Amino acid sequence: MSTTTIDPTIAMPPFPASWAMPPGPKLPPLLQVAQIARDPLGTAVRMHRRYGEPFTMRVPGFSPSLVFSSPELVKQVVTGKPNVFHAGLANRPLKAVLGRWSLLTLDRGPHLQQRKLLLPPFHGERLQAYGDLIRELAEREAASWPVGTPFRVAERMQALTLEVILDVVFGITDESRKDDLRRLLPPLVDSSRHVVFWGSIANRNLGPFRLRETFETRRDAVDALLYAEIADRRRVPSGELAARSDILSMLIEATHEDGTPMGDGELRDELMTLVMAGHETTATALTWAMDLLLRNPAVLGRMRANPDDEYVRATCQEILRIRPVVPFVGRVVTEPVRIGATEVPAGAGLIASIGLTHHREDVFPQPQVFRPERFVGESDVPSYGWLPFGGGVRRCIGASFAQFELETILRVLAQSPVRLAVRRPEPVRATGVTLVPGRGVKLVREMA
Ligand code: HEM
Repeated sequence: MSTTTIDPTIAMPPFPASWAMPPGPKLPPLLQVAQIARDPLGTAVRMHRRYGEPFTMRVPGFSPSLVFSSPELVKQVVTGKPNVFHAGLANRPLKAVLGRWSLLTLDRGPHLQQRKLLLPPFHGERLQAYGDLIRELAEREAASWPVGTPFRVAERMQALTLEVILDVVFGITDESRKDDLRRLLPPLVDSSRHVVFWGSIANRNLGPFRLRETFETRRDAVDALLYAEIADRRRVPSGELAARSDILSMLIEATHEDGTPMGDGELRDELMTLVMAGHETTATALTWAMDLLLRNPAVLGRMRANPDDEYVRATCQEILRIRPVVPFVGRVVTEPVRIGATEVPAGAGLIASIGLTHHREDVFPQPQVFRPERFVGESDVPSYGWLPFGGGVRRCIGASFAQFELETILRVLAQSPVRLAVRRPEPVRATGVTLVPGRGVKLVREMA
């Protein structure tokens, strides 16, 4: 098994205490996190108005971070040289769940090597072959919704996108193992959110809140299932494996540049990464989509009457603009850099605030208005004005698949006879690294 490819941990440079940081809120770091959790988009817009660009944020466990939002500066942050701009360092709270081989937590050469292994399975039409399956799963899901009783669509979308991951990424055929994962993965996702969002605080067991312990028990139970699946898959004859199109089968066949296959630990970490990065994000985008479509009947009507590709695609783009599921991406610089007019010392964090970029009046006029037409035909959105999937060598590896999945499922759900159970606007909250609908979007299905 290959071990030579794995990164020795990149040291975090000490942060220069004497640096005169750009202005920012003076609240203690924990209160800054609490404020963002309650109102992530509003807080970012207010801070930008008050302090300008960049402003400095403080988050517990991190060195101060500069927040950028104009397309040209955001571009510099996300496309900065990978040996200076480290996403893995910025993502390090995710290591507890994703592990040290995860694409999200690695940097430099080792990151590029893992990315080379993971890219081919996500390429081209391969995953589009799953279109019929995704459509079928979406139809079955919509048919199972109760008639006349309100239900939270967030939970239903989580279940739906988990089914997609179990088929497309894991390719699991053993029904009892699938059932175990259906039961064990959602509570693990829940626990990981606390550990990631609250960082070092969640790592202490605070009285009855045994967050860390609960998290570890859940993670270990899921790990046991993943290792069992990897062991079983390794026993499948190579010819049979090559005929399968799920991502795990392709990764088992893949080799590093030195010809060695991926080890069990690497496979486990990448499977966990793909579940964590691909399941809740897509489910949340679908949940926001239902909320936005049902509040904008003209858009929904146009999608229903004429599900032509361009308009459905534009609608999905606008959904990801107004409710960017991942509202920011971070990098930590290990050498001094200059972003625009700002000299940034080694050790500082840089945040590309996707949420703020998408809500800047100078990038998207009337940013609060949901208008898919912004993306129809010749679009005047500047480069890096729309970046729900981040950018550079860290751009979301599942971006095309996620867009395909969103469009496929929304075409089905747009036909469903549902209405919002609550007319009041859905609150936008931040948990973990995602922007979620605070009430989970309650719907009522009507008699067809
Ligand atoms: C609407 C759905 C999704 C959104 C909004 C989203 C967004 C993102 C963002 C913002 C990043 C960070 C990019 C950066 O640092 O510049 C990312 C990375 C990543 N995403 Fe997604 N994602 C989605 C779906 C998926 C899916 C379906 C998968 C796979 C099944 C996936 C796998 C990954 C992986 C592995 C990375 C790490 C890439 C790297 O560091 O090289 N994502 N995603």
